[in-house]
Amino acid sequence: MRTAEGIDFTVLGARIDSALDRWLPLESAEPQSIHRAMRYSVFAGGKRIRPLLCLSAAEAVRPGAEGVEDAACALEFIHTYSLIHDDLPALDNDDLRRGRPTSHKVFGEAMAILAGDALLTLAFEVLAKLPFATAETSAALTLELATASGTVGGMIGGQVHDIEGEGRAPDAKTLERIHRAKTGALLRCAVRMGAIYAGASAEELAALTAYGEHLGLAFQIVDDVLDVEQSSEALGKTAGKDAAQGKITFPAVYGLTVSRAMAMAEFAAALAALRPLGDRASRLEAIARLVVERKA
Ligand code: IPE
Ligand code: IPE
Ligand code: MG
Ligand code: MG
Ligand code: MG
Repeated sequence: MRTAEGIDFTVLGARIDSALDRWLPLESAEPQSIHRAMRYSVFAGGKRIRPLLCLSAAEAVRPGAEGVEDAACALEFIHTYSLIHDDLPALDNDDLRRGRPTSHKVFGEAMAILAGDALLTLAFEVLAKLPFATAETSAALTLELATASGTVGGMIGGQVHDIEGEGRAPDAKTLERIHRAKTGALLRCAVRMGAIYAGASAEELAALTAYGEHLGLAFQIVDDVLDVEQSSEALGKTAGKDAAQGKITFPAVYGLTVSRAMAMAEFAAALAALRPLGDRASRLEAIARLVVERKA
């Protein structure tokens, strides 16, 4: 991935992937089936937006913060678990993810459930073992990730609202509640974890949190728009699913044109939030642009 500003994310992506590889048990470790399933989904070619945000937020606060990629792995493990479970027949019932058959299609439902459980568990093991963080920082990061993944305003809570909203008349209030929780919370958390890892001041953390919130909302608006506009091939996941399942989405509530404009407004607000950080935030700015301009 290379952005218009010429910032090259390939190097960062490689750093993240090598850290993910270090934390994941080898496929040869017993029981091999679960380790195969965990690695299959983690290395299926995700965009790594959450770890990139974590690294870039840390960079904005304290360049060169050692070991921040380990904290970033915890985010990608939670995210990948959420995708495996999101695709299960009991949830969105999807066959395609990251351009490959979904976990339950390849390994069966029992193993897909367990692979998700295992990635969730591994995320917190990583945070407990962070090689370069103090116990206090580890505890703060654990609280951030647990809250963002949880039921009160977090990812699981959002998934509950999403599932319970299926087939119901879409309204703006429910929509925002779903999106802030199911996707926004983890993106906001990714930024905050990077900031906390690097020892951000209260002012820096507030600015970065605001950025994360706006970006989180923009991200899911774009996800909803792409579900309508793009092909399954381009997305690497089934297109047109939201309408087919009667999901409460931005296009369902506002239509495509207004949804796109809303994503741009959130993007602008995300950039405005970064202003106090000046040039140090250029990578976060580039990621925001990537999020709203992406076609997959
Ligand atoms: C997809 O997230 C699920 C949502 C939260 C909308 P991503 O678009 O970040 O998925 P990957 O990680 O690149 O596969
Ligand atoms: C899923 O949202 C958000 C998660 C917590 C995984 P979606 O159901 O819209 O994600 P996709 O479109 O399947 O990736
Ligand atoms: Mg879903
Ligand atoms: Mg889904
Ligand atoms: Mg979607």
